[in-house]
Amino acid sequence: MIALGNDHTGYAMKKAVMEYLDSKGIPYKDFGCGDVTASNYPDYAKAVGRAIQNKECEKGILICGTGIGISIAANKMKGIRAALCHDCFSAEATRLHNDANVLAMGARVIGVGHALKIVEAFLDTEFSNDERHLKRIQMLEEN
Ligand code: RB5
Repeated sequence: MIALGNDHTGYAMKKAVMEYLDSKGIPYKDFGCGDVTASNYPDYAKAVGRAIQNKECEKGILICGTGIGISIAANKMKGIRAALCHDCFSAEATRLHNDANVLAMGARVIGVGHALKIVEAFLDTEFSNDERHLKRIQMLEEN
C-alpha cells in the first residue's frame, strides 16, 4: 500500500500519480489534500509518515511545490527516510542505497511526465540489502 500526500501545489501531480498507480494495479491510500485550496505541507507529511510508522503503508509519495518542505517534515519522523528526487537515477539509487520509504517531488520543479517515470523507478527498485548500506541506514537512527 502506497501512502499519498500533497499540499495544494501538488494536487494535480498527485492526481496523475493516482492514475498511474491505478493503471499498474498498485493500491494506495490518499491522505490529502484534496483540492487546490492553500494548505500546510507538514500536515500531509505527518499523515503519510504515520501511516508508514504504523505499517498501514509500506511506502509513501509526497508532493509540494519544491518537494523540499514536505521532505524536511517527513524526515523529522522516526523511521522515515524521505528522498527528494527529480531524476530517475536518484530515485533508483535511493531505493538501492538508502532504502528510502518516501519519495518526495516538487510539482513546481518538474513536469508530470517526468514525475511518473521517477515514481516508476522508485517503486520498481528493491533495496540492495548490502551490509554496508544496512549499517549506514542503522546509523541514521542514532542521534
Ligand atoms: C507553498 O507555497 C510552498 O511553499 C510549498 O508547496 C513547498 O514548496 C514548500 O517547501
